[in-house]
Amino acid sequence: MTDSPQVVSGPEGIAIAAAALRAGQLVALPTETVYGLGADASNPDAVAEIFRVKGRPTNHPLIVHIADASVMGEWAAEVSPEAQALADAFWPGPLTVLVRRMATVGDWVTGGRDTVGLRVPGDEIALELLRAFGGGIAAPSANRFGKVSPTSAAHVVADLGSDVAVVLDGGVCAVGVESTIVDVSGDEIVVLRLGGVSVEALADVLGFRPRVEQTRAVVGEAVAPGMLAAHYSPAATVVICGVGEVVALAGDLLSDDAPDVVVGVLAPHVIDGLPAEAIELEPAGEGVDYAYALYARLRQADRLGITHLLCVPPMPVGVGAAVLDRLQRAAASSGLVG
Ligand code: TXA
Ligand code: MG
Repeated sequence: MTDSPQVVSGPEGIAIAAAALRAGQLVALPTETVYGLGADASNPDAVAEIFRVKGRPTNHPLIVHIADASVMGEWAAEVSPEAQALADAFWPGPLTVLVRRMATVGDWVTGGRDTVGLRVPGDEIALELLRAFGGGIAAPSANRFGKVSPTSAAHVVADLGSDVAVVLDGGVCAVGVESTIVDVSGDEIVVLRLGGVSVEALADVLGFRPRVEQTRAVVGEAVAPGMLAAHYSPAATVVICGVGEVVALAGDLLSDDAPDVVVGVLAPHVIDGLPAEAIELEPAGEGVDYAYALYARLRQADRLGITHLLCVPPMPVGVGAAVLDRLQRAAASSGLVG
């Protein structure tokens, strides 16, 4: 056992990763959202390793990544017209649909639920791996439970080390926040997690604006059990504030008689008038730009020893709404350990 995983790339790397999946090993794979910690979805022992490495409760279901919408029928008991329309519009891409599962889809993937989450990722390397492997890849984000998701191969190596056999390096994730999860298994179509596909874009395809039901997760009756309020947590205490408040808040924190306080600021645009001691992270921009930068900035804040990260969110429209959601979860988990 070595201390670091095998980091591979290119066509040869894809072949190595596919062989590792066939051998029942864990493979970290790039997707356009975040890196996934993948295993052969049909292999219960391999999938059990995901839960062990992640430290995640085994009743939390996993998303199954597939190469093409045409194989949906191998996993879904029924593909409704709405599910098909969403798949047609957004796959390959940052959308996960929850559909009623076939009886053959293992409890080890679904946590015993009667639905399965399916996604065709919009990253060419992920798709090549899926085609080379030939089956479904079960994969949560490749971070330890409750922590910030990885958006580069280096993040994965730093987080998981040799707990993952192979890391397929596909560069930095283009979207940067997780997929949007839409439950199409019931009478009503409900968004369970905001993500890379905006609610506005869903509405354009569906012809109506679907209900977003993340609050259910926040109070602990989560349909998606991983959608806990305390999630996406850096070590720094995250405080969400308006652009008009950030200078005063930074000043208050720094003037409190607390020598160990290191204040950082993350905002869409440059903030004028910050105290000199405050560390201003490179502005993240709005919408998709903020999403792209978000997790790397949260990790950077920890590396810089920032104890209090003041975050000015982007405008909560489009993918900006998913960014605000992740900031709120990071803020909710501040102070919690693990
Ligand atoms: O962008 C993404 O979705 C990334 C990449 C790797 O594809 N994956 C990801 O997986 O974020 P994960 O496991 O970290 O988050 C998926 C969420 C979890 O909260 C899980 O509980 C929920 O989706 N989920 C998956 N299948 C479900 C199901 N059948 N019913 C309810 N919730 C489900
Ligand atoms: Mg996750």
